Amino acid sequence: MKTKWPQKQWILGHRGARNVAPENTISAFKQALIDGADGVELDVFLSKDEQLVVIHDESVDRTTDGSGQVCDFTAKELAHLNAAANFSDFASESVPTLEQVLNVMPPKTIINIEIKHSAAFTKAKLVKKLMELLRLYDNKFCIIISSFDVELLILLRKAAPNYLISLLLDKTADNELLTKQLRLIKPDGVYLSAQNATALLISFIQFAGVNVAIWTVNDAKAAKKWFSLGVNGIFTDKVKELVKAV
Ligand code: G3P
Ligand code: CA
Repeated sequence: MKTKWPQKQWILGHRGARNVAPENTISAFKQALIDGADGVELDVFLSKDEQLVVIHDESVDRTTDGSGQVCDFTAKELAHLNAAANFSDFASESVPTLEQVLNVMPPKTIINIEIKHSAAFTKAKLVKKLMELLRLYDNKFCIIISSFDVELLILLRKAAPNYLISLLLDKTADNELLTKQLRLIKPDGVYLSAQNATALLISFIQFAGVNVAIWTVNDAKAAKKWFSLGVNGIFTDKVKELVKAV
């Protein structure tokens, strides 16, 4: 049975509660929920041993005390890096696997998984590994899978007709191209960047029967504006502040 898009307008912790905890770590995800988020957004790559690991960049350099490409580390090696290296309040945090995150999130949480492809693996392999894992959590969460990669989303739509899928856009959308992408992917959502979203573009996507969410919104006034325009959700680094205001 196809997962239903959440009924309420949601606020997701972008890479967790990223302003108060190291991004894409279990502490950041738990904190986002404590602070009142409806769920979390996270980024996944495949590790050297083909496990889905939760990290934003293709390299470990910015967010950990290690150096090198994610695809050159096994999940176990990534777990030994310190993903809290940039946060003095945190002793140590590992780079988690997606499975470890799913095992600690409460049922019904909205979990937006942004899938990221590195040249070390085929896109088909990434989709296969994701499907194998998510099958173990059938109906436990409200999972939405997103990507900037149109080809990856087309593959995913074929492999996972019952999953919620969102197309991420980071540029001003060309309406003709967007119409073509909507037809090919049949996404449930389109995620617009706050810089490029307009009331007209939001209406255009909604008129096509597709949900809209905005990233990354860290200002309460802006969040209220987006919600008043009827968007379905926002991604924020500042969960506590926005939940309180909205
Ligand atoms: O899902 C929205 C957002 O996460 C996309 O950008 O760079 O934070 O992964 P980024
Ligand atoms: Ca992301």
